[in-house]
This record gives sequence, structure tokens and C-alpha cells, in this order.
Amino acid sequence: MGYDAKFRVWRGDADGGDLQDYTVLANDGEVVLDIIHRLQATQTPDLAVRWNCKAGKCGSCSAEVNGRPKLLCMTRMSTFTEDEVITVTPMRTFPVIRDLVTDVSFNYAKAREIQSFTPPEGLKAGEYRMKQVDVARSQEFRKCIECFLCQDTCHVVRDHEENKQNFAGPRFLMRVAELDMHPLDVAERRDSAQSEHGLGLCNITKCCTDVCPEHIKITDNALIPMKERVVDRHYDPLVWLGNKLFRR
Ligand code: SF4
Ligand code: F3S
Ligand code: FES
Repeated sequence: MGYDAKFRVWRGDADGGDLQDYTVLANDGEVVLDIIHRLQATQTPDLAVRWNCKAGKCGSCSAEVNGRPKLLCMTRMSTFTEDEVITVTPMRTFPVIRDLVTDVSFNYAKAREIQSFTPPEGLKAGEYRMKQVDVARSQEFRKCIECFLCQDTCHVVRDHEENKQNFAGPRFLMRVAELDMHPLDVAERRDSAQSEHGLGLCNITKCCTDVCPEHIKITDNALIPMKERVVDRHYDPLVWLGNKLFRR
């Protein structure tokens, strides 16, 4: 059975905008993206929304629903009551292009700042076998669909534009941690995690983990272990001595 859903959608562009109210048909089994598409088809053909797979796998349809970072295609209408007003706004941390579409290029810039996987020079094929435990450890991080909802929700940049330059955000600190855990990676990761990617700004609020649609334990399995390794490097006297004597 269908019903009239009440939607409040942010309309505007980089110069400003506001919330506009719409009443749109909702059917059983639909998700918020279905309603946004019906709105486009019947009332607002110029409404801008980014999407692609409608299966929670491309990471394109990220926005905020009632102020919570969400994938529009994975947010079921059945999680709201029929008389609830559902507010859909663009991700707040990134500049608006138009309506629900934001410019997420901040994230690509941060990705480029991370030195890529760096194996030891001269290692030949077959000379090293990965242990299953090392493969399994980073497997979780590779589920990331780059929706950037964790980047959107982290208060370090959400409320502080001035931190953007010095903070890679949870998705990319997780990438640094993943590389640091890789048994074949020889690049220096720990000092740069602090000095270049802003690991110290993370105060482990775990909001990133809470919104991740892939349920990656970003904080517990990547950020906290990375912080521990950074502390070991700087404060363990034996590690310190080892670094002094055998520094690459
Ligand atoms: Fe999205 Fe999770 Fe990847 Fe962050 S870690 S970009 S929330 S899939
Ligand atoms: Fe931000 Fe996640 Fe740390 S939300 S503060 S990166 S635990
Ligand atoms: Fe691909 Fe939502 S449309 S994740």
C-alpha cells in the first residue's frame, strides 16, 4: 500500500539555498533514493542527486537523512513512520555543487598525499609468501566503497574547515594503517601519519565507524592500532634505540 511521504529537501547551489517541502508517493519496500527519483520524475526534473548502483556498492549516493550521513539507496522508508517529515540534505563537510550533490575532491587530494605501496627493492616474484593472517588483517579495509560518509561525519573536519589541510580523515588514515600493517611495505608510515596526515587530531570518537555502510571497524582495527604503533615508535626506549642504531 502506498502513502504520501513528506519530504524536506535542500535545494540550492554554492551561492546558497534552502529546504523545500514536497509530498511524494512512497510504496512498500522502497528506499529514500526511490522517493528522490519519483520526486525528480514528477515534480522537480532539475533536482540534482548523484547515484549509480542502487545497491550500496558504488558509494555515490551519500547524503544526510535527518542529519545522519547515509547512503540514500540503503536507507529504507520502513525505518520512518508514515507521518514523519524526512529531511534530505547534502553532505555538510564538502562544498555543495547543486542540491544533493557535493564536491568530494578533498578526498581524492588526500588519497594522492599517501605514498603508494612500496615493496623492498629487488624483491623477485615468489621470494615472499604472504601469511594468511596478514592477508586477512587488511581484507576488512578493502571493503571500503569510498562513499566518504566517514569523512563527512568526523567532527575534526565537519566543524573545522581549518583542519582540512592537516587531516586526511578516517578513510585515508585507515589506508595509512593498512599499508603500515603490510609485511612487505618498507615506506616510513608512522611519523608521516602524525606529521602529514593528522593522526593526532583523531580523538577516537568512533563516529566514523558508526556511519560506515560496510561496517568496517575503522577506529578499533585501523586508527587505534596505528596510534599505538606511533606511540611505540616515539616512547618505547628500546624502539627508540633500535631506530637510532638501525634506521633505514
Ligand atoms: Fe565509506 Fe566506510 Fe569507506 Fe568510510 S570506510 S569511505 S564510511 S565505506
Ligand atoms: Fe574522527 Fe573517527 Fe577519529 S570520527 S575523531 S576519525 S575515530
Ligand atoms: Fe551506489 Fe547508493 S547508488 S551506493
